[in-house]
Amino acid sequence: MKKITQDQYFKKINDISFIPTMGNLHDEHLSLINKAKEFKGPVVVSIFINPLQFNNPNDLNKYPRTIDNDIKLLESIDVDYLYTPNINILENIEEIKANNYKNLLCDKYRPGHFDGVVTIVNKLFTLVEPQRAFFGLKDYQQLLHVKNLPIINDLNIDIIPCETIRSNDGLAMSSRNNLLSKKGLQLASNIYKSIKRVKDSILVNQNILNEEIDYLSKLGIDIEYYQICDQETLESINFKNKNKNKFIIAIAGYVEGIRLIDNILSD
Ligand code: PAF
Repeated sequence: MKKITQDQYFKKINDISFIPTMGNLHDEHLSLINKAKEFKGPVVVSIFINPLQFNNPNDLNKYPRTIDNDIKLLESIDVDYLYTPNINILENIEEIKANNYKNLLCDKYRPGHFDGVVTIVNKLFTLVEPQRAFFGLKDYQQLLHVKNLPIINDLNIDIIPCETIRSNDGLAMSSRNNLLSKKGLQLASNIYKSIKRVKDSILVNQNILNEEIDYLSKLGIDIEYYQICDQETLESINFKNKNKNKFIIAIAGYVEGIRLIDNILSD
């Protein structure tokens, strides 16, 4: 594996499959990498903890930094390039506004977060110029924002969504899980069980959401939002018949003070 810090290095390389990350790699990242390996070109993983996307400085400070383990892991699975941009990548960066889905789901509770995400992803795309880039469906709203970036059309980048990877009890893989105690992890597994119950119920509607919010709150999960939304617009919808529309059930909540998100798609 080659370790690259020079920003212009990738201009010489073609057909790149790119996985941008903030490190603290786990099975979700490995699955993105495995997906990338299905393509012929070289696989580039970037690790950069992007301060622009943390609206809460505490979150940024707490973010797990595990670069040595990350490097070992990437070496063990034969990734071609690890790109670790220097902090001065942020100097004179073109600020991009994530104007869609304003005040919906995470955007409502993390103002500016998606501006920070699309700003850095845009910058990384211009430096790496990949043929394709891989994003997890767990961060569904992020995926939609990235798909909207004009740069992907200019550079002809395919955005490839990848399935959410879960532990045996259903908890979605996330770097934030490392911040939870054993008890917290068990409690957090109720989030997926709950959205699965909603998806499997005959009527998917506000009543069942209210019941689930009540249930999860009693268990000790502090729900930030729990909504059924249109898959494209992310506008909240209320159904009589769940077979009629394509929907996403999206949830964010706090376990032991750690913010977790998850979602499930109707199909
Ligand atoms: O999903 C992430 O880890 C980050 O939001 C990303 C896409 C690497 C941008 O910093």
